[in-house]
Amino acid sequence: TAILLTLPIFSYLLGSVPFGFLIAKSRGIDLRTVGSGNIGATNLGRALGGKWAKICFLLDLLKGALPMIAAGLVVSGEPEQSELWLWLLCGAAAIAGHIFPIYLKFKGGKGVATGLGVVLGLWPYYTICGIICFIIWIICLYTWKYVSLGSIIGAAMFPVILSLEIAIVESWSFSDLWPLIAAAGVLAILVIYRHKKNITKLINGTEQKAL
Ligand code: G3P
Repeated sequence: TAILLTLPIFSYLLGSVPFGFLIAKSRGIDLRTVGSGNIGATNLGRALGGKWAKICFLLDLLKGALPMIAAGLVVSGEPEQSELWLWLLCGAAAIAGHIFPIYLKFKGGKGVATGLGVVLGLWPYYTICGIICFIIWIICLYTWKYVSLGSIIGAAMFPVILSLEIAIVESWSFSDLWPLIAAAGVLAILVIYRHKKNITKLINGTEQKAL
């Protein structure tokens, strides 16, 4: 039980590590004063270029995926329901860490890369939903050239795709899995809410396009 309690705390502390902020800081830049002011990979790309954006995206993604993989290992052999609850706790903690980091006075990012990491970490059952959302994100990005629009649409599609997978694989038996669907809905709403400035700019036509 000790590990069941410490894992969510560890997930939050790992999620809190603001890689984008730290990489920019190591180059003498305060990312919060650049572009959108966000500490995520997209804004790091504005400050330091695409290579660093990709590295930051991967690191932020791992902050979400590693706790989920650890949680899956800890409860392996236990009933699936315990895995589900530990996953929900650790995933929520990692994303909360990224969005509300303890090291930056709780002012963090938008939860896209870390959220995707959490979803991909639902291995092996729901990793496919994460892959599909990632593909949707890439298609949106290449079509409209706005990272934020891809993130918003990808996040909104996640609960839909997850529900579809459960409908197909579990023959519509949602009963045991309602916490997962509810969590997917909360994640989508949170990520979209964190993009409220981007939404205003998209409507005004002032959102910055990706290079
Ligand atoms: O992942 C965050 C992205 O969707 C938007 O970032 O910096 O353009 O607000 P930014």
